[in-house]
Amino acid sequence: MGRLPIRIYGDEILRKKAEPIDFVNGELHKSRLEKLVEDMLETMYAGDGIGLAANQVGVLERIIVIDLGEAQPGIESGPRCYINPEIVSRAGVDVMEEGCLSFPNIHAEVKRPSEIEVKALDLEGKSLHFQADGLFARVLLHEIDHLDGVLFIDYLSPMKKLLLRDQLKELEKRAQMSGGRE
Ligand code: NI
Repeated sequence: MGRLPIRIYGDEILRKKAEPIDFVNGELHKSRLEKLVEDMLETMYAGDGIGLAANQVGVLERIIVIDLGEAQPGIESGPRCYINPEIVSRAGVDVMEEGCLSFPNIHAEVKRPSEIEVKALDLEGKSLHFQADGLFARVLLHEIDHLDGVLFIDYLSPMKKLLLRDQLKELEKRAQMSGGRE
């Protein structure tokens, strides 16, 4: 498979809630999961992204991949994958510019918590529990939102949304024409 088509804003799958992966009963599907994660990473790199959620490639399962490109405080460089990620606590506030592979050419400043605590599973189904801040926290928050059908434009002020209205309409039109696939 390799690179997967990215679903663009307007595709209803981006508004759906993804389902948790069941490791206990789903062990047989491990090779499928590994392949999917590999393909998600390839897709993310091809789009020059630093994070991607499974909804964005049309899969309603709670999987995200992240690669910040270079080491950041508290995190080494390299690809990461989190299964069933959950934010268990949040603190502080930070404003950063965000983009999203499902919104080509759209960027906007978004206010989010600055420090978070996350629980997740790794590809083997092993429990992870860690803290994140800075860019790492930002990407985790953005990607975990995707799994709940929440998009970064949902946080924009009415004024900023108004400014982006035509661009968003254009994307919706494109998504409808292509059945959402890019
Ligand atoms: Ni996104």
